[in-house]
Amino acid sequence: MTQYNFNEIIERRGSNCFKWDGLEELYHRNDLLPMWVADMDFRSPDFVLDAIRQRCSHEVLGYTMPSSSYWQAVRDWLHNHYRIDATTEQLHFIPGIVAGISYAILCLTQPGDRILVTTPVYPPFLNLPKSSQRTLVVSPLKIENGRFCIDFEDFEQKADRCKLFIMSNPHNPAGTVWGEEVLSRISEICERKGIVVISDEIHADLTLPGHRHVSYSTVSRHSRQHSITFVAPSKTFNIAGLGSSICYIHSDELRKTFYGWLDALGVANGNIFAFTAAEAAFAKGESWLKQMLDYLLDNVHTLDTFLKENMPKVKAVLPEASYLAWLDFSNYGKTHSELSDLLINKARVALNDGTTFGGSAYEGCFRMNLGCPKEMLLEGLHRIAETIK
Ligand SMILES: Cc1ncc(COP(=O)(O)O)c(C=O)c1O
Repeated sequence: MTQYNFNEIIERRGSNCFKWDGLEELYHRNDLLPMWVADMDFRSPDFVLDAIRQRCSHEVLGYTMPSSSYWQAVRDWLHNHYRIDATTEQLHFIPGIVAGISYAILCLTQPGDRILVTTPVYPPFLNLPKSSQRTLVVSPLKIENGRFCIDFEDFEQKADRCKLFIMSNPHNPAGTVWGEEVLSRISEICERKGIVVISDEIHADLTLPGHRHVSYSTVSRHSRQHSITFVAPSKTFNIAGLGSSICYIHSDELRKTFYGWLDALGVANGNIFAFTAAEAAFAKGESWLKQMLDYLLDNVHTLDTFLKENMPKVKAVLPEASYLAWLDFSNYGKTHSELSDLLINKARVALNDGTTFGGSAYEGCFRMNLGCPKEMLLEGLHRIAETIK
């Protein structure tokens, strides 16, 4: 069995890499250690790169289409990992999940319609409804025993008259795995109130050892009928730059509406490298993924230990899935802008600003990306600890 080396430091600067080459634009300096954009600093898997190289050796890159072996690889992955038994007809290629969510908003709702989200959450969930003139309805999560939880009393009340609920399952920014019980409760409420649920499961494959991802579509007869599920190999195999995502809809009616709309716009035709890479990833990726998740879990433990020993005042929500951790520095008695300034200009690390995940309620909070070689993680942590003390 191939043993992969996730300790290798790979120079990404100069490759038009958003995480490293995009620092200047957001942070106004380019000498930061980037622990923000949600991709990993690991090499994309050899079997994916080989498949792309092999396809290039054909030397004609004309119009393409998804092959039956691509669909088989997708269906097998969904069946083996998430007990989703999808027919090819129930699946649709999508160039990206953010685009997919945006299409769903435009297709299924009208300006002014209410769209529910829980915060803190991945910023496009907040921005897409607003920029399409829908009414954003926010139900803040609570923190209990170091985990984010849904405040069901608030959720139920806010869900009134909503058309859509957009859910990150598992949850970004803190990698919370929603268990069967929570998802069933959401399903019961959304069914009763006639809400379509968009379950963004992009981080599902990154569920860490010791936890189990449950696909929203599988928790009840109703959840299967009233949901749109998005999945992708992009986070899993570090191939986000290829734009290769998949939509799953079980309901005939919902599918007819949404897939008909996608096809009318001609937005989901796909490209050669997206199909080639996704097929190779899903067909050959089990061992790579297992080794990578073990490595990520070790990084989570490293972060946990480091914080306890060196920054005990930080309140952390550690990921159960993904490589994203939510760090609350508010106990240090500094304002959000003072903390931000310290992190950027003294520690020289780029974290995601917590307020972008839901506004001023998250002042003092920052999201850290642990998807990197341990040496880089420790470098970032040491820089922060030196500065903050
Ligand atoms: C919850 C969530 N959805 C979607 C995306 C982006 O998906 P895509 O690149 O397919 O648009 C991200 C990226 O960080 C994410 O965290």
